[in-house]
Amino acid sequence: MSLAAHQSALDSLLQSTHALWHPQPFREIRPVWCDDYPALTAQLLALDDPSAEHLNHDGQAAHALLAQHFPACADLQSLSQLPAHLKPPPLKLGTRWAWEIPGRKQSQIEAFAAAAQPAGLPVLDWCAGKGHLGRLLALQWQLEVSSLEIDPKLCADGEYLALKARAIQKFSCKNALTVSDAFSRDQHAVALHACGDLHRRLITDGSAAGVARFDIAPCCYYRGIGENYQPLSAATTTALTRDDARLAVTETVTASPRLTRQRDKEMAWKLGFAALRREMTGEAAYRSFKPVPAAWFRDDFSNFAMLLAQRENLPVSQGKVIGSFEAQGWQRQREVMRLSIVRHAFRRPLEVLLVQDLGLYLAEKGYDVAIGSFCERQLTPRNLLISAQRA
Ligand SMILES: C[S@@+](CC[C@H](N)C(=O)[O-])C[C@H]1O[C@@H](n2cnc3c(N)ncnc32)[C@H](O)[C@@H]1O
Repeated sequence: MSLAAHQSALDSLLQSTHALWHPQPFREIRPVWCDDYPALTAQLLALDDPSAEHLNHDGQAAHALLAQHFPACADLQSLSQLPAHLKPPPLKLGTRWAWEIPGRKQSQIEAFAAAAQPAGLPVLDWCAGKGHLGRLLALQWQLEVSSLEIDPKLCADGEYLALKARAIQKFSCKNALTVSDAFSRDQHAVALHACGDLHRRLITDGSAAGVARFDIAPCCYYRGIGENYQPLSAATTTALTRDDARLAVTETVTASPRLTRQRDKEMAWKLGFAALRREMTGEAAYRSFKPVPAAWFRDDFSNFAMLLAQRENLPVSQGKVIGSFEAQGWQRQREVMRLSIVRHAFRRPLEVLLVQDLGLYLAEKGYDVAIGSFCERQLTPRNLLISAQRA
C-alpha cells in the first residue's frame, strides 16, 4: 500500500473511532462508549490484574479484542504496522566511540546508523545532545558532521568526546527553533529523538531549504503544540488534541514490579483525592492539577490529601475523615486500568498517523519517502524512522 493510501485508510478509521480513543477514563468515570457497549465494559471490568496489564501493553491482543466488538477496528492491527528496516550494524568500531553511553542508548544509535544510508554529503545532526549519533556517523561514514545542540554543557562534552575519538565533528551551540543558517541543499540531516516542534522545524525549514536527505526518528509529538495538533500534510484530517498526540507516546518498555506498584499507588491516590474534591465541591467534571511532588506519596493517604487540598485551595477540616477516599481511589484505579485498554489500543495507530503526516509532508515537497522501524520496540518504543531523499 502506498504511503498516501495507508494514511487515508488510517485517517478514516481513526475518525470513525474517535469516541473510543479520545475520552480519558482517568478523567471521565464512564466514557460514553461504556453505555453504548455494555458487554465490552463488563468484559473489561471483570479482567484479572495480569490480563488487564497484558492488554494494556500488547497492542495486537487489544486490537483483537476491539475487533470482536467494533467492525471498524478489524484493520487496526494491519494499519498499525510499518515495514521493519532493521539492519545489523555494518562495521564494528569497537567500544571506543561509545564512552559514556548507556547500553540501551548505544544499541539505539547503532541501529539508527545501520538503517540510515550515507549520502556522501556532510551530515547535520539535529538536536544532538552529546553528539553520540553524529560521532558514530562521522567515524563510520567518514564524513564531516555538524552537531546542533542548545545546551552548552552537552556541546562541550560532545566536543571532548569527538576529539578523543578523532571524529570529524564540530558542534554548533544554537537553538533549533530560531537558528537561521543551519540548512543547505548539499546536506544529509539526521535526528534521533528530537521532540515535537524540533523535528517539525527540521522537516518544514529543512525541506524549504532543499536539504538533500533526511533520516529522522521523531519523539514526543505533543511537545510544542498548542491545544490542537496542526497536521503538516493535507492528507491528515483527524482532529487531534495535545492529549491525543501525547497518548501516542505513553507506552513504556516494561516497567519493574516496584515501578508498577508505585505508578498504581500514585494513580489511586490522585483518584482518591479527585473523589474527595467531587464530594466537597459537588463538581462532577474532573479538574486536573499540577504535578504532585514525589515526597507527598511517601507518607499516608490522609497526609497526602491534606497537602494537596491546601495547595488546591480545597477547605478540608482536620476532623474530616478522608481515609475512606483512599479505598475509592483504589477502586477507581482498578476500573481506569481496565477501561483504558480501549484507549491504549490506539497508541501505535496514532503514532503511525503522526509519523506518516510528517512523511507525507516531505512527499508533498517532492521527496521520495520511506517509513519503517529501525530497531525492536524493546530497545525503544520510539523506533520509527522517516527516510527521505530529494527526488
Ligand atoms: C531526547 S534528546 C536527544 C539527543 C540525541 N539526539 C540522542 O538521541 O541522544 C533531545 C535533545 O534536544 C536538545 N534540545 C532541546 N531543545 C532544543 C532546541 N531548542 N535547540 C536545540 N537543541 C534542543 C536537548 O538539549 C537534548 O539534548
